[in-house]
Amino acid sequence: MKIGTITLPDHPLILAPMEDITDQAFRTICKKAGADVVISEFAASDALIRKVEMTLNKLTFSEAERPYGIQIFGNNEEVMVQAAKIASELHPDFIDINWGCPVKKIALKGGGSGMLQNPDLLVKITSAIVKATDIPVTVKTRLGWDEQHKIIVTLAEQLQDAGIAALTIHGRTKTQMYNGCADWTLIGEIKNNARIHIPIIGNGDITSAEQAALALQQYKVDGIMIGRAAMGNPWIFTEYKALMNEGKTLPTPSVEERIDMCRLHLSTAMQYKSEHYALLSLRKHYKNYFRNLPFFKEIRMQLLTADKIEQVETLLNIIKDKYC
Ligand SMILES: Cc1cc2nc3c(=O)[nH]c(=O)nc-3n(C[C@H](O)[C@H](O)[C@H](O)COP(=O)(O)O)c2cc1C
Repeated sequence: MKIGTITLPDHPLILAPMEDITDQAFRTICKKAGADVVISEFAASDALIRKVEMTLNKLTFSEAERPYGIQIFGNNEEVMVQAAKIASELHPDFIDINWGCPVKKIALKGGGSGMLQNPDLLVKITSAIVKATDIPVTVKTRLGWDEQHKIIVTLAEQLQDAGIAALTIHGRTKTQMYNGCADWTLIGEIKNNARIHIPIIGNGDITSAEQAALALQQYKVDGIMIGRAAMGNPWIFTEYKALMNEGKTLPTPSVEERIDMCRLHLSTAMQYKSEHYALLSLRKHYKNYFRNLPFFKEIRMQLLTADKIEQVETLLNIIKDKYC
């Protein structure tokens, strides 16, 4: 599959951009585990053009993460074009525009999925960003604003005409937020549209390598993006590769492997963040790293409140003694 000039393996598995989750440490770990593409947490265009340090820090990446995309959101053409230019100067492989975020403070101001209520402007801004940058521009969006306005089939053609290099579709509307189940029917319909030639990446509710392979088969998408199922579970990428390339189903990781991965994740986070923020970042992942361990609640609570690396180390050793 190709995103503009970037050549990827066939049917890539892509780590979804997730605010406060897909930081550099987690992206690096997922990349090592086999993720084909990683994308930054979203960056507010108005913060980017003001060169807000925290925003710029979020976008830092290493060569090992490539192909790497920077995701921007916003609601104003001039600001977003300028933000895309600034993002391009950081030399990512592509720029991804977020037209899908349903969070109130963004969508109600017309950013993220808010722009799905104004598709003409959405396409106009996208086209302006494509023209302003010389790296590929991709879009991530949802089916539409609500059940009555699922505009994605028409929008996909318009975005393609605007020059985007790939389109990721989360199979929910804005008003669904994260409720109900993702509906991939329209994603499949877009793939069936003979006019569409850009890669279509399906997203929503994929929780295993097997499910990803099934979705490929059923909806004929070019690639799959996964978010929540990768949290505390970077093996999903390794499992997908083994399944797609060798037809093999890998055994679920042992507790020892989970402890080792968690330790690696933490030490990687420490390379990029202070102890405080590294520990905070890991809290989102413990639940999945140690999913299904019996009588684990108390240790989990202690992991979630630990504010020193040594405490986490001690707890990991306790997990090892108790469960290995
Ligand atoms: C905590 C969290 C943060 C997210 N942040 C972003 C974001 O910054 N940009 C974006 O495009 N989508 C964001 N998303 C949406 C995901 O990229 C993805 O579309 C969604 O979770 C559905 O995929 P999944 O079922 O595989 O998780 C976020 C989702 C979650 C759960």
